[in-house]
Amino acid sequence: MIFYFSGTGNTRWAAQQLAQATGERLLFIPEEMKGNCHYVLEENERLGFCFPTHGWMPPKIVRNFISRMVINAEGHYCYALTTCGDDIGQCMREFQKKLHSKGMHADSVFSLTMPESYVCLPGFKTDSKEMVKRKLSKASEDLKSFIELIKERHTGKELIFKGTLPYIKTYILGMPFNRWLITDKPFKVDAELCIHCMKCANACPVGNISMDRESVLPYWHHDGSCTNCLACYHVCPKHAINYWDTRKKGQYYYIKKKEKYSRIPQSFS
Ligand SMILES: Cc1cc2nc3c(=O)[nH]c(=O)nc-3n(C[C@H](O)[C@H](O)[C@H](O)COP(=O)(O)O)c2cc1C
Ligand code: SF4
Ligand code: SF4
Repeated sequence: MIFYFSGTGNTRWAAQQLAQATGERLLFIPEEMKGNCHYVLEENERLGFCFPTHGWMPPKIVRNFISRMVINAEGHYCYALTTCGDDIGQCMREFQKKLHSKGMHADSVFSLTMPESYVCLPGFKTDSKEMVKRKLSKASEDLKSFIELIKERHTGKELIFKGTLPYIKTYILGMPFNRWLITDKPFKVDAELCIHCMKCANACPVGNISMDRESVLPYWHHDGSCTNCLACYHVCPKHAINYWDTRKKGQYYYIKKKEKYSRIPQSFS
């Protein structure tokens, strides 16, 4: 069983590759949060968690899901994989702590550096086309080797890139970031550019965007559900959505050709 969260598609791609290789069930955390979060693993079934790094931490929706989940994890191989744009700091340490609080433990942990999705703060923008290509090619190779280790149920593997000053990143910068800057308040839509296609609303993993009946423009609910995954910003075909001033920061969304943008992920089969 693989539980995953993804905003702009990087982690979805990795989780889908894992599900294909292991033949195990793939479950999207925001959809699971609508149910009772009770699960039963079959004999020998692995338990996997895949999520992006947000502010050098696991996203809050993932941490909340672990708090709520009830599962017969004892005796089952467990692993966690995070995708990031640069480095993960102490993200996996925090994830293990969260698992421990529920009597679980990841036997091996992995990180994959993939194209950058964060653009909100000054100094952050999407990668160049060349960088995207390079990162996707390296991530594909790295993921293949992680999949082999996971299939063989290797324990004690910590193939992660913490980067420099991981404690400072997670505990001095990341914690306030996650506390104060995960918010939908700064989103704005440019009415002159918007073509009312609803792709932003459909891409939101938590259903935090609706279309105003009169203007047919999207609006954000401001109800605390936003994960700041930026799927809405990146998916807009007219770059009509801004977060503070992100007009020149580019867009990125990883999706295979022929798939449609969807809040509910496409099946991998
Ligand atoms: C709110 C937010 C915070 C992020 N924080 C980090 C970070 O701390 N370190 C990092 O390397 N990348 C960070 N990123 C980049 C993403 O982790 C990376 O692009 C990831 O692969 C996106 O996954 P997704 O496409 O499945 O949503 C952040 C992205 C967002 C949207
Ligand atoms: S409103 Fe945008 S940033 Fe917030 S959860 Fe939805 S898609 Fe992600
Ligand atoms: S995706 Fe962009 S163009 Fe489409 S409705 Fe949303 S803001 Fe408007």
